[in-house]
Amino acid sequence: MVLRLRIRREDPQKGTCYYQSFEVPYEEGMTFLSAFQKIKEQYDETLTFRQFCRAGICGTCTVYINGFPKLACKEQVLPYVISNTEVIIEPLKGFRVIRDLAVDNEKVIRKIKEIRAWIKEYAGDPRIPPEVSKKLESSADCILCFACQSYCPQVMEEEYAGPLIFAKLYRFLEDPREENSQVRLVQAIQEGNLYHCLSCNKCNHVCPKEVEPATLIREIMTYGG
Ligand code: FES
Repeated sequence: MVLRLRIRREDPQKGTCYYQSFEVPYEEGMTFLSAFQKIKEQYDETLTFRQFCRAGICGTCTVYINGFPKLACKEQVLPYVISNTEVIIEPLKGFRVIRDLAVDNEKVIRKIKEIRAWIKEYAGDPRIPPEVSKKLESSADCILCFACQSYCPQVMEEEYAGPLIFAKLYRFLEDPREENSQVRLVQAIQEGNLYHCLSCNKCNHVCPKEVEPATLIREIMTYGG
């Protein structure tokens, strides 16, 4: 059995952009990331992609597979091999391509820094009640893979902060140790343009960790009145 891939290759420095086909012999348990690695080792060492943990934890390997953002290290190739069609592989949409499947995520990282995505004010008792902790769980599960941010149609609009940012902000509205929850809320509504969310749920569908950013956004909206 063979995995047939059609990978978008781009080198902005040379000004080249094209799709290149590869056929990779299937191996049991093969993921898209291991297929990319095989291509790099055996067919074309110039293929560029990101990877780190290879275990669905670090969020660095996200690419578009047939039009949907997926973690390449988690997505098994077998169903695609069985369907025997060419699989289209592209970099995250809405991000500047550095080369091939590696994109520049600096803009989103900057936004995360702007919202100060960490507990700044410590208000005494460090313990979080179990019921609150449960509520914070999904927001804390975000691995910064950028799938939601890339797939959100509203992120094209520059002023809208995007689902990833609001999923991060959510925990600071709920975390009892955060003294500035109200400031955070105003920040989300005014600076992040919270209400520009279309509530299309696309981010919920593509999140590999089931964080459900759109659901969290709707909950933040209820705080805003
Ligand atoms: Fe870390 Fe895929 S390499 S999530």
